[in-house]
Amino acid sequence: MNKAIIVTGGAGFIGSNFVNEWLAQSDVQVINLDCLTYAGNMENLSALKEDPRHVFVKGGIGDSALVSRLLNQYQPYAVINFAAESHVDRSIHAPEDFIQTNIVGTFRLLEAARIYWNGLSSEDKANFRFLHVSTDEVYGSLKKDDPAFAETNRYEPNSPYSASKAASDHLVRAYHHTYGLPVLTTNCSNNYGPYHFPEKLIPLIIANALADKGLPVYGDGQQIRDWLYVADHCSGIRCVLEAGRIGETYNIGGWNEMANIDIVHTVCALLDEARPRQDGKSYREQIVFVTDRPGHDRRYAIDASKIEKELGWRPAETFATGIRKTVQWYLANPEWVANVQSGAYRDWVETNYAGRNQ
Ligand code: NAD
Ligand code: DAU
Repeated sequence: MNKAIIVTGGAGFIGSNFVNEWLAQSDVQVINLDCLTYAGNMENLSALKEDPRHVFVKGGIGDSALVSRLLNQYQPYAVINFAAESHVDRSIHAPEDFIQTNIVGTFRLLEAARIYWNGLSSEDKANFRFLHVSTDEVYGSLKKDDPAFAETNRYEPNSPYSASKAASDHLVRAYHHTYGLPVLTTNCSNNYGPYHFPEKLIPLIIANALADKGLPVYGDGQQIRDWLYVADHCSGIRCVLEAGRIGETYNIGGWNEMANIDIVHTVCALLDEARPRQDGKSYREQIVFVTDRPGHDRRYAIDASKIEKELGWRPAETFATGIRKTVQWYLANPEWVANVQSGAYRDWVETNYAGRNQ
């Protein structure tokens, strides 16, 4: 069997966690294709600098010639597609990149994979997998008492981000039904953990709290998300890659629904304990309620019983253990946060928060 995998978007938050964990457990070489947008960060991969099992290639999934060259050169048995524009707020301000990367990019990656796969021996063809990493946001928004999202829920994406991910999921599905490409799709809930870019809620709250800035909570803070520690998402993906049924989709989630305001309170309490404010007050004092996100989905919740029943996967962390590790990681890595808070990051903060009433 071929002894390499291609991971796209492996310098981002989840992709870098995946690559680091993969190579901690396996000697199968990783070809990491990432074009290093603002969200891609080589520091996330610093532990692999001298490691010959990790080959980093700077480039985009939409570059068909490059992708074909990598496929033919390294003969991978799997492509795992993390590459995406991933931030809902940015998709509201500037949707174009989301269409280009998430839809056009995924299409080109699929097309290159199909051509490569067609040329493989029958044994390698049977072993090949294209695993597409997607999101629970494609299912839309739940009401308070609705059952959690199952794989059979209809797609009802509400933001340019989720619509672009939904489109990419449909293309992946079509490549299986039309061409027989052996695909797998995972739809996961909100991740948190090390290397999470501080434009997203949890790392933003930690960074702002420590910098004595406001902690912006959109609307009434009662929106619900289902939080999963990133290492658990990565183990779920490995499980689906190894044993998932071809053509199937698997929801991955933490069985952990929480309102945003409760997330913020939990982070504040952990920081109060680990790094108390000099004035003895709680970091909660810094919370500010700001204008809501347009079209803000009210509730997401994942029913992860299919992956548990079929593949025996369950998350290893509870929210209590995962969020403690996460806060500790950010306290131990202030230079990582400082380095990503570049000029471009400051421009984004200005764009997203300046117009919001407080
Ligand atoms: P991220 O924004 O942190 O990282 C995305 C990475 O993709 C970056 O390294 C970026 O440089 C790279 N990239 C962007 N466009 C590219 C292109 N055209 N070609 C190659 N590389 C490109 O995102 P993340 O949070 O790590 O999410 C990874 C994947 O998981 C995404 O597909 C996202 O939709 C999905 N997902 C994320 C979450 C979450 O909570 N963060 C939950 C479920 C699913
Ligand atoms: O559900 C999975 C999705 O989770 C992934 O597909 C996305 O890639 C990922 O970014 C994430 O999307 P969210 O929009 O849920 O994540 P974000 O961290 O941006 O926001 C989480 C919640 O917190 C959401 O309800 C909006 C709210 N929020 C966010 C920010 C940045 C605030 O209240 N204040 C903020 O400043």
